[in-house]
Amino acid sequence: MSGTVRHFITTQSLEGGELTEVLDEAIQLRSRVPRNDLAGKVVGLIFFNPSLRTRTSMEIAVASLGGKTVVMDVGAGVWPMEWLEGIRMEGAAAEHVRDAANVLSRYCDAIAVRSFPDGKDWKEDRLDPVLQAFVRHSTVPVINMESALTHPLQALADLLAIRDVARDPRGKRLTLAWCTHPKALPLSVPNSVALIASAAGMTLTIACPPGYDLPEEVLTQVEGNNRKSGGTIRIVHDLAEGMEGAAFVYAKSWGSLRTYGRATEGLRDRERYRDWRITEPLMARTDGGRFMHCLPIRRNVVADDAVIDAPTSLVYAQAANRLAVQKAVLLRLLASQPASKRKEAR
Ligand code: CP
Repeated sequence: MSGTVRHFITTQSLEGGELTEVLDEAIQLRSRVPRNDLAGKVVGLIFFNPSLRTRTSMEIAVASLGGKTVVMDVGAGVWPMEWLEGIRMEGAAAEHVRDAANVLSRYCDAIAVRSFPDGKDWKEDRLDPVLQAFVRHSTVPVINMESALTHPLQALADLLAIRDVARDPRGKRLTLAWCTHPKALPLSVPNSVALIASAAGMTLTIACPPGYDLPEEVLTQVEGNNRKSGGTIRIVHDLAEGMEGAAFVYAKSWGSLRTYGRATEGLRDRERYRDWRITEPLMARTDGGRFMHCLPIRRNVVADDAVIDAPTSLVYAQAANRLAVQKAVLLRLLASQPASKRKEAR
């Protein structure tokens, strides 16, 4: 969150003690008592992809602070959109993000965007093209509701869930456990888990099959965070080994960068790791480990019912925290900004 217009694209922009401040503020905001801090403010929620938690929790968070939301499903109620600059728009897209962002900036005080990766070419997706197009062309804050690269609102909710259990996350052992899945899922959640765990000084283990390493640039940021926070990272290619002694197990599947964009090859590769599923015997290897997942989860594929539904599972706490952390982020971005600002200097 920096610059003249404060966007919220990644937790990496929370500098100094800001990460702790946001979470402290979120705790204060857990109360369901309605407030009016965002009275007169409008937040546009643009979805290029489906959502249950993000959509509902953003709508409820804005409403509970006295603001209003306008929800737009791209290609279903609003025009399909193009984001590449200078392209001749002869395909399905009738609207360019350049125009959509400029127009919505005149109606809204912030624009929140969900845009998953295209999944064809990592060279393109690593640039987070849709979200960055909104950042380029919006004159109001842009909030990332999950992009090709990160899911920062989820990461804040996750760290809050960890803090609720461990109080001080520094030095606590978190295992990010790759799990099997029929689809090559985006890297946004695992990237964000690694970034926020390292920012919080946690002892992170990533357990993933060979070829499923997180992007180089994310690992570089993790190392940078660790230098400041005292956190550590190790990568193991054995799930059982990765579970040993963990205080928190974050299960998540993601696609391999090695087979990126090649669906059949990717599926064939993941077939080799079908037994990478979180089970009770695996959880027994942890140090009373708490189970985490961002949801939605494919039950008995990614993790067994017995693990997801165990009293030690944090999945609903993580989801519940979305409300509080989103309120905290919205207040930071919008509460001090006059409602009339969006109509100025156009
Ligand atoms: N965790 C999460 O972002 O859920 P949705 O995809 O349902 O929004």
